[in-house]
Amino acid sequence: MLDIKVTKTETPKEKPTGKLGFGKVFTDHMFIMDYTLGRGWHDPRIVPYQNLTLSPASMVFHYGQEMFEGLKAYHGEGGDSYLFRPEMNAMRSNATNDRLCIPQVPVEDYVQAVRELVKVDEDWIPTEAGTSLYIRPFIIATEPFLGVDISKNFLFMIILSPSGAYYESGLAPVGIWIEDDYVRAVKGGMGFAKTGGNYAASLAAQVKAHDDGYSQVLWLDGVHRKYIEEVGAMNIFFKINGTIVTPALNGSILPGITRDSVLTLCRSWGIPVEERLISVEEILDAQKQGNLEEVFGTGTAAVISPVGKLRYKDDVMVIGGGEIGPISQKIYDTVTGIQLGKVEDSFGWRVKV
Ligand SMILES: Cc1ncc(COP(=O)(O)O)c(C=O)c1O
Repeated sequence: MLDIKVTKTETPKEKPTGKLGFGKVFTDHMFIMDYTLGRGWHDPRIVPYQNLTLSPASMVFHYGQEMFEGLKAYHGEGGDSYLFRPEMNAMRSNATNDRLCIPQVPVEDYVQAVRELVKVDEDWIPTEAGTSLYIRPFIIATEPFLGVDISKNFLFMIILSPSGAYYESGLAPVGIWIEDDYVRAVKGGMGFAKTGGNYAASLAAQVKAHDDGYSQVLWLDGVHRKYIEEVGAMNIFFKINGTIVTPALNGSILPGITRDSVLTLCRSWGIPVEERLISVEEILDAQKQGNLEEVFGTGTAAVISPVGKLRYKDDVMVIGGGEIGPISQKIYDTVTGIQLGKVEDSFGWRVKV
């Protein structure tokens, strides 16, 4: 258990009014904890939100030794605030940390830090339908040193950002670009980790997709450029002939917490589920034969993002007539219902702040 020192701001900011976007407004406080080799994590504290002072030689700026996470706090039924499976983010953080030679943060300490910070800024959790407080834990290497090595110092921080409804008016299907040139990750690399380099590597393809009018990129595997991996910030699911199919966790895709929740729910509903290799040809064939019933992305940001259009080279597949499929809608309603305390939480996923 951490002994977190809390220093409250003397100049609370105005809360934003009107439409909330994403990731531009930050709350009054942040969490910080230092790591020093030989001493471990120390000095956990909640302080007024502020800029950092770092040496320009801090290792994070040069070789990218850093990690981050993303989860949300929700204003639930009856006015209580909830987190959704925060221990999963803590565990995934440690898997990322191991890959990047960043020291682990004990899961209980991580969840405690998130809860205590959200509690301090609880009145920043927006209350309108679909809104939430985005939580961004991250760790950076701060030792001032230009050699390629493991930093001896790190900072673990958590910042909070009120965020608007992902969907303004119902679940809107998105267009996805299947990238056939650039790749995001390979087995043995860091695709399963949530670290900045993976996202930096994704930007060039994202530009191509946007230029062509598609909102996100769907990555293929880095070796054969044949097997479906994941979307820029979502895992991907297909409903083919009544079966829900998603790529298996193979080391090059992020093990999404929403993905895991969707698999658990579908299994509990008796829907056949398969985690396996899926080639892009299989999807094209299923579409041609009229068996591709639903396609959706899963992630913390949108929960479910129905895919209405998939482009692969010269083929453009229109799925479900651009409408939302019944399974996508049911999963969305159930997950958001659990998050907000409106639906029974049979799996113990909801955590009161
Ligand atoms: C690359 C990538 N895949 C998948 C996901 C979905 O993960 P989660 O459901 O934990 O938000 C995310 C978002 O965090 C992501 O960045």
